[in-house]
Amino acid sequence: MLNKLKDILEKFNTKINEIETLEQLEQIKQDFSGKDSPLIPILKSIKSASPEERQEVGKLANDVKIEISTKLNAKFDTFQKNILKEKLASEKIDVSLVGTDIKFGTKHPLNLVIEEISDIFTEIGYEMVDGQEVEQDLFNFQNLNLPIGHPARDMQDTFYINDEIVMRTHCTNMTARMLTELSKQKTNEKNLAAISYGNVYRRDDDDATHSHQFMQIDGFAVGQKVSFANLKWILKYMCQRLFNENVNIRLRPSFFPFTEPSVEVDVSCFKCEGKGCSLCKQSGWIEILGAGMINEQVMELNGLDPKTTTGLAFGIGVERIAMLKFGINNIRSFYENNVKFLDQFKFYGE
Ligand code: DAH
Repeated sequence: MLNKLKDILEKFNTKINEIETLEQLEQIKQDFSGKDSPLIPILKSIKSASPEERQEVGKLANDVKIEISTKLNAKFDTFQKNILKEKLASEKIDVSLVGTDIKFGTKHPLNLVIEEISDIFTEIGYEMVDGQEVEQDLFNFQNLNLPIGHPARDMQDTFYINDEIVMRTHCTNMTARMLTELSKQKTNEKNLAAISYGNVYRRDDDDATHSHQFMQIDGFAVGQKVSFANLKWILKYMCQRLFNENVNIRLRPSFFPFTEPSVEVDVSCFKCEGKGCSLCKQSGWIEILGAGMINEQVMELNGLDPKTTTGLAFGIGVERIAMLKFGINNIRSFYENNVKFLDQFKFYGE
């Protein structure tokens, strides 16, 4: 039996030294270990051997078994390492090759302006609220002091869905809705500051500076002591954040039915610093938005008491700000989705 064992080991050693492929190694593993191992019949026959022989054969059989499995494992290990080596060699990356261009999207310039203005106001406590693009005449006009038949309705030529429903002509509709909601609150002191943005619609002929659909941001703040000074401060603060910290503002009297007094706000030209250039048409000033103190009528129409609650309001044309900020002279550029145009804003704000 001892010789048989030595024989098995010898055979195994010759075979394992000759192998060249993983398949051959698998075959040897099957032939010399597991259920087909030639050691099994020997181990079985040990039972009938004499005690001395049993001890000797048992020890050798065990040694042979261990040697076989150690060598098999070592060989498998070498194969695996070689396979990995080959794989690494064949999959080597040539870093000098020209790569494939990954196209990143860009934020739309109108969204950049909206984000910037939203941040300015939400940082100081204004709440961002949603408005309705398809709106009741009530909130778009009547509750903003524009009753049916009011001549000032002509300032905003309107798409009517039916007699009572319109495509909103401005984002100021949100102010009417929010004031009405505020009036229903049980608190004595009515305080609220909010902004809202979105599309508005007017029956305008499209040209380089007008579109029948455009975007606005509207905001208001109401409370017990909201004053015209607050309005001036907030407008200047916004302009300095939006353009640069050296700009100044100028207020000109204007008219909006929902504000009294109403103002048109000019910002000192951020390009020439007021000296006069093509952007400000040599005047040093650029008109940027409309604003005012919320008309007492509007407070009343929405259920608030103008004696105790006052408010400021402002409405900003997003396209206009974007055109000024980015030096764009045709409003249509915003709606054409020309990738070359949009790509220019890729790194804005970084
Ligand atoms: N809604 C006005 C428009 O579209 C803009 C406006 C002016 C909004 C004054 C306001 C405001 O909230 O106070 O022409």
